[in-house]
Amino acid sequence: MVASGSGDAFERAAAELDYPMLIATTSADGELSGCLVGFATQVSLLPARFLVCLSDKNHTFRVAGRASHLAVHYVAADQVELARLFGEQTGDTVDKFARCEWSMAADNLPVLAGAEFWFAGPIVNVVRFGDHTGFVIEPDRGDAAERSTELLSSLLVRDFEPGHKG
Ligand SMILES: Cc1cc2nc3c(=O)[nH]c(=O)nc-3n(C[C@H](O)[C@H](O)[C@H](O)COP(=O)(O)O)c2cc1C
Repeated sequence: MVASGSGDAFERAAAELDYPMLIATTSADGELSGCLVGFATQVSLLPARFLVCLSDKNHTFRVAGRASHLAVHYVAADQVELARLFGEQTGDTVDKFARCEWSMAADNLPVLAGAEFWFAGPIVNVVRFGDHTGFVIEPDRGDAAERSTELLSSLLVRDFEPGHKG
């Protein structure tokens, strides 16, 4: 096998990876925000902690920086319209929450209707990684009923045009 430049190899490999997509939502000072996120993972068992990485270009990043809590929603593979709303539109110009169903939960968290499951909790750590910043939450609420549908994943949304590049 011929080794190629490590940057190229990484970009090609990353483009092949299929990972779950989620929609993160938050609010601060009455301002709601949310976006589609691929960079996310559980990072601790005890206490349970989950990392959501937000691009510093995004409206959601700016609101999350002033927020106390963050919610994470996983949607079914066929909920492409909802995913497009949160991944291709920006809260800088569009009120996404006027275009979808949601309800306000404790701690002023907007919870999206129709998610396959969701969880949320206080933001306990914020770490700048590069052009994305990690928001670590400690999930303490949510809804995760029995389900059998396939979840939305990155290869299903690779044709999306992000509302903010990068
Ligand atoms: C496949 C895909 C993956 C994405 N992953 C992330 C991510 O991990 N973190 C992030 O902040 N934005 C990510 N985005 C981009 C935002 O969802 C997008 O720019 C959104 O329009 C930003 O909205 P906002 O400005 O209202 O926050 C991704 C978009 C797509 C299409």
